[in-house]
Amino acid sequence: MTDQTALPAGTDLIEEINRLRKEKNAVILAHYYQTPDLQDIADFVGDSLELSRKAAETDADVIAFCGVKFMAETAKILSPEKIVVLPDMEAGCSLEDSCPPEKFAAFRAQHPDHIALTYINCSTEVKALSDIIVTSSSAETILAQIPEDQKIIFGPDRHLGGYLSRKFNREMLLWPGVCIVHEAFSEKELLKLKEQHPDAPIAAHPECPPHILDHADHVGSTSSILNFAKTFEGDTLIVATEPHIIHQMEKALPEKTFIGAPGADGNCSCNICPYMALNTMEKLYACLRDLEPRIEIEEQLRLDAKKSLDRMLEMASATVGKGDLGAR
Ligand code: 13P
Ligand code: SF4
Repeated sequence: MTDQTALPAGTDLIEEINRLRKEKNAVILAHYYQTPDLQDIADFVGDSLELSRKAAETDADVIAFCGVKFMAETAKILSPEKIVVLPDMEAGCSLEDSCPPEKFAAFRAQHPDHIALTYINCSTEVKALSDIIVTSSSAETILAQIPEDQKIIFGPDRHLGGYLSRKFNREMLLWPGVCIVHEAFSEKELLKLKEQHPDAPIAAHPECPPHILDHADHVGSTSSILNFAKTFEGDTLIVATEPHIIHQMEKALPEKTFIGAPGADGNCSCNICPYMALNTMEKLYACLRDLEPRIEIEEQLRLDAKKSLDRMLEMASATVGKGDLGAR
């Protein structure tokens, strides 16, 4: 077990993490929803697809994954010879929780003529039961390569599935999962905010429900929203995704104003991902020191899950489609 209490008073965490990173030949990967301190100490910050690619190509011996469990598991599936550590093993995801493998297997069995196109926010077991994995930045390119007459089950995010279905005018059977973070944005409060900033565009993640996406000027993955922030004309942007991404926007564009879309209480604090928030600098230090908690996956399960992830990586690199969810 990791002993996080053994931190001597006055420890300089940044110095210690940098020392351990060298000593263990570790790479620190972080998602945009992590706190600024973790984003700033990471070797690479990115969206789910970019982090998967980095995990697959790194020559480090250890991957310290500042993100949630399904992301660290993806790293282990793609890089089995590496030690993959997650600062807090409780860092789960409501989408993964919504889709137990036995229920997903039963649903698939009821629809044998459908392929399963599955969002990366799911367990390794569900990946093993799927045909092709997608991320929000690769979903459109991948869907464009699937023949029109092929029937599709899309899970576990019904909002991303619904958005793709409407955009492609293509029916899909949707698994009823949601992200509790994106579900918490309030349309009423968003419209009040828009009244105060009528010229500010709204950029939203496709995990948001349709009543939020309907007001968005740009819909896309975290990287796509970040790119939009770097190119939009104007001085204020309303951001409808987990607010820690604003850290990268403020670093890149200090002269502009970025406002997190509000929840029902009128501010954006309820939109902080409680799972991502479990990771801290102290826990990152401890997991680099102890090389625990470690991701372990049974080999046959890993190989089964890798097939659908490999398909994603191949298809996401194809030039068909626009490459990312983009302007509506
Ligand atoms: P992306 O970074 O791929 O847009 O994913 C967002 C997310 O919710 C990760 O959990
Ligand atoms: Fe899961 Fe939502 Fe948190 Fe992403 S933001 S890890 S989808 S709960």
